[in-house]
Amino acid sequence: MLAYQVWFLQPSLPVQAFLKSEGAKALFKDRPVITLCGCRNMWLMAQERVKEIVAGLGGRIIDNVVLSDSTHSAFTFYSTPAWLLTGDKGPFFGGMIPAAGVSDADIAASARFGRAIAAQLPSRERSDSSPMFAGLGAVHVRESLIESEKAIKRSFRLWGALIRSAGKPGNLLRNLLVCLYVVFLFLVIVTVVPLLAIIKAILKPLTRKRIARQREYFAAPSGESMHLVEQGKA
Ligand SMILES: Cc1cc2nc3c(=O)[nH]c(=O)nc-3n(C[C@H](O)[C@H](O)[C@H](O)COP(=O)(O)O)c2cc1C
Repeated sequence: MLAYQVWFLQPSLPVQAFLKSEGAKALFKDRPVITLCGCRNMWLMAQERVKEIVAGLGGRIIDNVVLSDSTHSAFTFYSTPAWLLTGDKGPFFGGMIPAAGVSDADIAASARFGRAIAAQLPSRERSDSSPMFAGLGAVHVRESLIESEKAIKRSFRLWGALIRSAGKPGNLLRNLLVCLYVVFLFLVIVTVVPLLAIIKAILKPLTRKRIARQREYFAAPSGESMHLVEQGKA
C-alpha cells in the first residue's frame, strides 16, 4: 500500500523522494499496489502522477482510496491553511468552521477496506489485478474540480519555471515572485475554481456523457460505487 498526501496537486515531496529511491524500485516491481490518498479535495492530478510513477517502477495499481476533507470547500479554504500554518486543526470561530482534515468518522469507516483485504487476500492470486474495493465507495470524484485541477496544474508549471528562472532560493526577485504566486493562488481559488464549476454546471446537459467518462476514468480502478455499503455488505 502506498499512502500519500497531496501538495500542490502532486504527491507530497517526501513521497516523491521515496518513489525515486532504490527501495521503491525493489518494493514496487511486479507488485499489486493499493494507493491511499489524503487531501483537502483536489487529488485527481496527483493520482495521475502516482499512476505514472508506479507504472514506471513496474507496479500495477489495483485499488485507490481517497480520503478527503468532507467539509464544504469554502470552510476548508480557511481551515486547511490555518491547520498547516499553526498546527491547530480547529474547529474555528466557536465551531462555525469545522475541524480541518479527514473526519474521525471517515477514518473509522475506512475499516471496510481492511475487512475487504482480510476477506479476499488469503485466496487471491498474486497476478490478480482486479480491485478488491469495488462497491465500497473508495473514491468520490468531484466533477466540478476536474477542469480547475487541469488549469491550475498548467499554471503551476508556468509559475515554477518563472520562479526558478529568477535565481536560487533567497534571491530577492525570486522571493517577490513567490509572494506574487501566493496572491495568484488565492485569487485563482476564489475566482477561477467557482467560475469553472458554474460553467461546468451550465454545460452539464451537453457534456453529461463526457463527464461520466471522465469520472469513470479518474475513479478507476476501485470506482465510486457504494452499492456494497448501501446494502450493508461492507
Ligand atoms: C504545501 C501543501 C500543499 C497542499 N496542496 C494540496 C492540494 O493541492 N490539494 C489538496 O487537496 N490538498 C492539499 N494540501 C492539503 C494536504 O493534502 C492535507 O493537509 C494532507 O492530507 C495532510 O496530511 P498530513 O497530515 O499527512 O500532512 C496541501 C498541503 C500542503 C502542506
